[in-house]
This record gives sequence, C-alpha cells and structure tokens, in this order.
Amino acid sequence: MKAFYKTRLGRIYHADSLDYMRTLSIESVNLIMTSPPFGLVRKKDYGNVDAHKYLDWFRPFAEQFHRILREDGSLVIDIGGAWISGQPTRSLYHYELMIMLGREYGFHLAQEFFWWNPSKLPTPAEWVNIRRIRVKDAVNCVWWLSKTPWPKASNRRVLIPYSDSMKGLLKNGYRAKLRPSGHDISDKFSKDNGASIPPNLIAIANTESNSSYLTKCKEAEIKPHPARFPVDLPEYFIRMLSDKGDFILDPFGGSCVTGEAAEKLKRKWVCVELEKEYLEGGKLRFPIRQLDRKLPTYKLSHPGALWNGVDDEEPLPSDGGRKRPNKKKQGSKTNASS
Ligand SMILES: C[S@@+](CC[C@H](N)C(=O)[O-])C[C@H]1O[C@@H](n2cnc3c(N)ncnc32)[C@H](O)[C@@H]1O
Repeated sequence: MKAFYKTRLGRIYHADSLDYMRTLSIESVNLIMTSPPFGLVRKKDYGNVDAHKYLDWFRPFAEQFHRILREDGSLVIDIGGAWISGQPTRSLYHYELMIMLGREYGFHLAQEFFWWNPSKLPTPAEWVNIRRIRVKDAVNCVWWLSKTPWPKASNRRVLIPYSDSMKGLLKNGYRAKLRPSGHDISDKFSKDNGASIPPNLIAIANTESNSSYLTKCKEAEIKPHPARFPVDLPEYFIRMLSDKGDFILDPFGGSCVTGEAAEKLKRKWVCVELEKEYLEGGKLRFPIRQLDRKLPTYKLSHPGALWNGVDDEEPLPSDGGRKRPNKKKQGSKTNASS
C-alpha cells in the first residue's frame, strides 16, 4: 500500500483500514489506539454508523484487531454514547460493543476509563436545558481491552500531581489508623512518592481554538475534522501501554491525532483514514512541535455544595417531563444553563 504521507516514524494511509490490516502479520501491533465513528441515531457528516447496526459493522474490525494485536498488546477504544431519538434515554450500543468484544472475540476488559470533557456543552438541550430532566453528558467511555489478562502496562508513566489535601497530609503528617471501612491505612501513605496514581477518570477539556492544527487548516482552507480527540488522550494510553519503538495503530485515523502523540513519544505508528480531506489536514500536524503547555487542573464540586438544608423542593414533574414546560412560567431558579 502506498503511503499518503510519511514521517521518520510513521505512515498515513488513505484507505479502508480493513484492507490495510489484512496486509499486517499476526501479532505485529503493540497498541491499537482509536476512536471509531460513534453509533448515532442522527447522522453526522463523517460517516457515523446507525447504533442498531453497530455491532455488525464492527465485527470485521474486531476480527482483525484480535489477529494483529500482540499477546501483551492493548486495544483502547474511545467511544461516545448516544441518545435515543425523541426520548430521554440512552442507547446501550457502546456497552454492547464492549461486551461483544469480550464474549465473541475473547478480549479482556483490562479497565474501563471515563474521559471527562469539562468543556462539554449541556446537550441535548431539550432534556437538559428545557425540560431539566437529565444532566449534562460529559464523559466518553474508553474501553481498555487486552488479548490476555496481562497486557504490558505501568501506571508510573501517567502519574498526576498530588492534590492539595494530600500535600497537606505529607506536610503535616498522617496518623495511621483503621478506616471505618476496616481498611488498615498504614503509614506508607504518608510517604512522598513525588506524585499520585491517577484514577480511571481522565479530565481533559476538548478545546483547542488556537492550536497549530486549526491555524494551519485555516490557512490551507481545509475543513478541520469535526470529531477529534485531544492529543493528551492518546498520549496517556501510549505512555502507559507501550515502549519507545513499539508499533501503534489508529485504524480510524481522522486527523491523525494518534500519529502526533506517537511521533512525539518516539513510537512507530500508522493512521488509516477513509476521507482524504481529513488527511490533508492531518498531515499538517507534522513535523510535530513540542509545546510548553500550561495545563489546567480541574476540580469537580461535591454534589452537595449547593444543598443548604432548606426544604424548598418543587415537586418533580409527575409525567417524567413528557410535557414541555411553558417558557413564560419558568422562574429564574430554573433558568441556569449548565
Ligand atoms: C471519530 S473519527 C476519528 C477522529 C480522530 N481520533 C481524530 O481525533 O482526528 C472516526 C474516523 O474513522 C474514519 N473511518 C470510518 N471507517 C473507516 C475505515 N473503514 N477505514 C478508515 N477510516 C475509517 C472516519 O472517516 C472518521 O474520520
């Protein structure tokens, strides 16, 4: 297959990834890091697949993923959920996908992650802003799957800074005691290891209004890919699950964000994408620029932060929100948007 674009470590192919993967030998890939088209009820403009047909559409990819992945390799799938059209309930398709990959193809669920995008808008407006019967959907599921229960991995590669409360404990000392749960918290927890082990909730805002990718796309009059993930997401999993020189594949390459992260981390990589226009933009990511970024830390408020004990509850809508509220009747209390 002829490459659309090459770097020292990577290749971009303008192709159907099923065709590309069939050219690979068995057990030749260390990490498949990808975000497939999501299953949607309403179609977007980059070839989303109908949620009902999603599993059938995915099966040939699953077969290839299992064939080409090494025994100690990982398959990481970032996938967003979908609302069922016309009603305030969610499709189960992305859970069904994970279960199918386990039951039919023998993948192990090494761990489920949730990517929280703090900048996500409160949609669908009808359920969240107008009828106020659902909350903002701000996480994508990230299924970390593996061929054996022992994929190579180390959380030491993805440590995060200590929280302020942990810094306080380290400074002021911690008295080892038995927790109410019965856990014996030994004084090992008061040792300063430099950083802490992250949870499986990954906080990354998907905002890049002045990134070099967007600037270059604008200059070249190329439409940016409409469903990109932030480069920190593939970077996280590439760091944790692969070594320098390993081979990383993104079979749904889009604008080659995975390629950018892999190139930066000195892994070999391939991105395959069906739409040429996305690749025209994707190749503008290279050669990569190492940026000095100031990264924000997000705080998630405790849910009770606004519950002041005053009993001013309005009754819940007895019809479950079936009837649209009359806008004029809504008071200021119900107008907050996010
Ligand atoms: C969710 S997007 C990936 C976006 C990418 N992670 C990024 O950040 O730019 C999924 C992509 O898969 C591509 N795609 C769908 N089927 C494909 C196939 N069979 N082979 C290659 N690419 C495919 C779509 O055109 C779409 O660009």
